[in-house]
Amino acid sequence: MPRPAVPRDLDAFFDANARRLRAGLDDFLRIPSVSAKAEHAADVARAAEWLARELTAVGVPAEVIGTAGHPIVLAEWRDAGPDAPTVLIYGHYDVQPAEPLELWTSPAFEPTERDGKLFARGAVDDKGQLWLHVKALEAHLTVRGRLPVNVIVLAEGEEEVGSEHLAQFIAEHAERLRADAVVISDSAMFAPGIPSILFALRGLAYFQLDVQGPVSDLHSGMYGGAVVNPAMALARILATFHDADGRVAIPGFYADVREWGTRERDSLRGLPFDEERFRAGVGAPALGGEAGRTVLERLWARPTCEVNGLLSGYTGEGAKTVLPAKAMAKVSCRLVPDQTPADIEAKLAAHIAAVAPPGVTVTVTHLHGGMPWKAELAGPAFDAAERALEAAFGRAPVCTGEGGSIPVVGDFQRLLGAPVVLMGFGLPGENAHAPDEWIAIENVEKGMRACATFLEFVAQAR
Ligand code: BES
Ligand code: MN
Ligand code: MN
Repeated sequence: MPRPAVPRDLDAFFDANARRLRAGLDDFLRIPSVSAKAEHAADVARAAEWLARELTAVGVPAEVIGTAGHPIVLAEWRDAGPDAPTVLIYGHYDVQPAEPLELWTSPAFEPTERDGKLFARGAVDDKGQLWLHVKALEAHLTVRGRLPVNVIVLAEGEEEVGSEHLAQFIAEHAERLRADAVVISDSAMFAPGIPSILFALRGLAYFQLDVQGPVSDLHSGMYGGAVVNPAMALARILATFHDADGRVAIPGFYADVREWGTRERDSLRGLPFDEERFRAGVGAPALGGEAGRTVLERLWARPTCEVNGLLSGYTGEGAKTVLPAKAMAKVSCRLVPDQTPADIEAKLAAHIAAVAPPGVTVTVTHLHGGMPWKAELAGPAFDAAERALEAAFGRAPVCTGEGGSIPVVGDFQRLLGAPVVLMGFGLPGENAHAPDEWIAIENVEKGMRACATFLEFVAQAR
C-alpha cells in the first residue's frame, strides 16, 4: 500500500488558516469551564454555548441540551446519506480546577505560547483536543462543502466530575446516536513524534472514608490515651490496603483481573520505555508498586488502590495538643477488565468493616466510578485511524495502554455497540490536571490534519 497522505486541499486549508484557527482555540480556552466548582457553573454553560455556536458556524448544526448537571452539546451533519458510515466524535469541554494558581507561569485562563507549547487549563485536557476535531470538520466543509461521512459531535461538561449524566443520555438517545465508530481525542501520545492509539483504559472506583471518634476535638493531654484517636484509626485502616509486596490486600481484589493476552504484551515489550527516565521525570527518589511487574504493566495492566487526600487534626503553624474528633481520606481504585466499580466498592467496604478498630465509626461513601476498557485493535475505524495518523505524523502509530480513565468509553461500546478509537495528541509531561498544562503547537497542527484525514479514510474504507 502506498504511504498514506493528508489530502492536499485540506492540508492547504490548515496552512492558509493557521493563525485564525489558533485565535479561536484561545477564545475557547479563556472560558474557565471548571465543572467541579459551583461558582463556575455559568462559565461551564458559557463554554457549551460557545462550542455549539462554533459547530453551527462551521456547518454542523448544534444544540445545547440541559441535564441535571452541566449541559451536553450535540451536533449532527447527516448529508452524506444513509449508506455512508456515521462517525461519533466525543470530547469534554469542562476542565479541572486550576488551583494552585500561584504555581502557573502564566494565568491558567490566559492562553500563552512559549517554546512551541500553548499553556492554559484545558489546552490538552480536553478543549484543545476536542477543538481539533471541530477544525477538521471546518476544513472539509469549507474546502469541499461537505463531509465524507455522517458526523455526530457529542461533548459533555461533566467528564472531570465523573460523567454522571452522560450514560443515561446515551442510553435514552441510543437510536439518534447510532454510529459505526466513535473517535475520541482525550489522551496522550507515547512520546514526541510517535502517534499513538490507545488499547486500554483503566476504570475507577472513588470513595470517601470518614472516621468519627468523640463528638468534638479534645485536649490531647486530658483525654489522649483513653479515647481512640480517629487519625490513628484511619492510618491503621489505610495501612491494611497493601501488603509488603505492593499488592492490594483487600480480599478478592484481584479475583476478576484478566491477565493480558500475548498481543498486548508484545506491543508493550516493543515500546521504547526507560524506567529510570520515567523516575527522573517524576522526581521521586525511587519507584514503587506491585513486585514483579514492569512500570508499564503497573500503569496499564494492573489495578491500584490509592489515597488521594487526607484530612485530620491540627495542620497549622507550630504545635497544638489536640485529639481530633474525626479524620477523612479520599481513596480511589483504578480498575482493569473485568473488575467493576460496584464489586470493588463492596469488597472495600467489607474489608474496612473487618479491620476498623473499635472506638470509632467508619463510613464509606461512594463518589463516582467508571468501567475499565480494552479495545479490539481491528476493523475499519482502527485501520482508518492508523493510516490517518501515519499521514499526519509521517510514521505509523504505536498501540499503547493508559492508566487514566474515560468512564464513558465503556458506555459507548456497551450502549451503542460501536468500536471506540482513541487517538490522542497530548504528550508525556503535558501537566494535565496540574499547573502549567500545555499542548504542543506541532501536535495541534498535525492533530487537525489527522482528524480530517481520519474522516476521509473512514469513508474510503467501505
Ligand atoms: N483525559 C483524561 C483521562 C486520560 C488521561 C486518558 C490520560 C488518557 C490519558 C480525563 O479527562 C480524566 O482526567 N479522567 C479522570 C476520570 C475521573 C475524573 C472520572 C481520571 O482519569 O482521573
Ligand atoms: Mn480528558
Ligand atoms: Mn482530565
